Amino acid sequence: MKALEIRNKYLKYFKEHGHKVIPSSPLIPENDPSVLFTTAGMQPLVPYLLGEKHPEGTRLTDYQKCLRTVDIDEVGDNRHLTFFEMLGNWSLGDYFKKESVAMSFEFLTKILEIPIEKISVTCFAGNDLIPRDDETAKYWMEHGIPKERIYFLEDNWWIAGEEGPCGTDTEMFYDTGKKPCSDKCNPDCDCGKYVEIWNNVFMEYFKHKDGSLTKLKQHNVDTGLGLERITMLLQGKETPFEIEIFEPIMEKLSKLAKKDNIVSRRIVAEHLRSSMMIIADGGRPSNIDRGYVLRRLIRRMTRHMNKLQIDLNELQKLILLNIDVLKEMYPELEKNKDIIVKEIIEEKDKFMKTLEHGEKEFDKMINKLDGNVINGSIVFKLYETYGFPPEITKDLAVEKGYKVELDEFDKLFKEHQEKSRLGSEQKFKGGLAEQNEQTIAYHTATHLLHKALQIVLGEHAIQKGSNITTERLRFDFSHPEKLTKEQIKRVEDIVNEQIKRDLKVTCEEMTLEEAKKSGAMGLFENKYGEKVKVYTIGDFSKEICGGPHVEHTGVLGTFKIKKEESSSAGVRRIKAVLIK
Ligand code: ALA
Repeated sequence: MKALEIRNKYLKYFKEHGHKVIPSSPLIPENDPSVLFTTAGMQPLVPYLLGEKHPEGTRLTDYQKCLRTVDIDEVGDNRHLTFFEMLGNWSLGDYFKKESVAMSFEFLTKILEIPIEKISVTCFAGNDLIPRDDETAKYWMEHGIPKERIYFLEDNWWIAGEEGPCGTDTEMFYDTGKKPCSDKCNPDCDCGKYVEIWNNVFMEYFKHKDGSLTKLKQHNVDTGLGLERITMLLQGKETPFEIEIFEPIMEKLSKLAKKDNIVSRRIVAEHLRSSMMIIADGGRPSNIDRGYVLRRLIRRMTRHMNKLQIDLNELQKLILLNIDVLKEMYPELEKNKDIIVKEIIEEKDKFMKTLEHGEKEFDKMINKLDGNVINGSIVFKLYETYGFPPEITKDLAVEKGYKVELDEFDKLFKEHQEKSRLGSEQKFKGGLAEQNEQTIAYHTATHLLHKALQIVLGEHAIQKGSNITTERLRFDFSHPEKLTKEQIKRVEDIVNEQIKRDLKVTCEEMTLEEAKKSGAMGLFENKYGEKVKVYTIGDFSKEICGGPHVEHTGVLGTFKIKKEESSSAGVRRIKAVLIK
């Protein structure tokens, strides 16, 4: 059975069981600055899991495009993927454990026709707060799963991140038929005998930042079934790279490679698909956040094309081939064909330039080395001075027979980030920030906007988050209600007035205590280094900040607010531009 067929059967089955089929949300979450990409089907549904009414009712199902970035460096082995599709069904205060187990069991054994002998399950083992989940185990037994194949584990608990809706879960495993690795071999073991296929989370708690749990208003079920994995198992394949989603591109790469290597081919195939999906959903390469993930994916892919000795001019054909393979599953790829080709090729070209330059510097540096260990300060210097990504330095080093000590790099990188950080929300000022004339101008405009908002709305209008691209600034601040047209106009006028006054921007270093005394705005609860930088804009604003800023406000152009909207409860968001 092909992946698309499995997806369709899944949606049909749950539709027949009272679920409304909802569309996949984009890979790039809307209105959720806390995560870079959608990582699970439940993510766009959080408000409804917490009790808000969903317009489609209390039973939902979908296929969700997901991207998990923690495993980027693992891609190349026989199982890790960054982009994957998650099939899911949800009960929003509707059915609970009994029906959830019944439907999963029926779907696996009747629709997918998996023999019951191949299925093992796990249930929550219990802890100080929550008892062992004997109820779910009982339902599995009623369907004929023998006691010996029901395992109770402490890990059967699921939450996305640190805070949010969560609960115990029951997981279904497929027995590949491989020999057990020991007499203790069980689904918890990663020898490869058991492969997890489906996770049903019984979401009835909310975990708070301090670690405490409270009961949710309603009992929910949140499930996730990885499409590539189930397809691979049903097709009797050992890796997802052998199923029809990847097979054509893997074949093509093998034909093109002058020096074949399966790990590199998997990396190219996987990263290419992920990059295309991100671009189709609006992502663009850059030096921050999502853009940086995309950049890393394209760059790593390019590196491995080089390793395979594939002519980089083939990249366009590879993209078009992949669109052909995937367009039925993801029509958005075909729709965004031109931009996908353009962005990937341009990024590849940029990277080749960096690579050329960086490799020369790399060679110079290793020629000066005693021994074969490259320490983190060299990796950091290559990164900071030549924009050479650490993972590439690592790859190069390994190729040339050197070892890399990344501990020191991690430390320097953190310090570098810390130094230029204003607040934890302000990722744009982190070490990866793209700082050019335009972003610097937006940065200064952000300070003017912050102060203007305080003048117009009151002192409660403090910064909650900020994000800058070369196209616009985005600013989140606390305020309980929508701004009126008049308020927006006043804020714009005040900012433009300060631009016209051509105020001088100056910077002083002082201790946090001194900064506070001087009346500088800033997020004082955040940890700063001993000394902080305070930027003063004429007599208008004083704010703790890592910089950099323009020297005079006169260069900023005309400030215009493009959008004012809600960001989250009690937080408003403004998007604004500078017109030259
Ligand atoms: N949200 C659950 C998961 O991602 C289903 O595993």
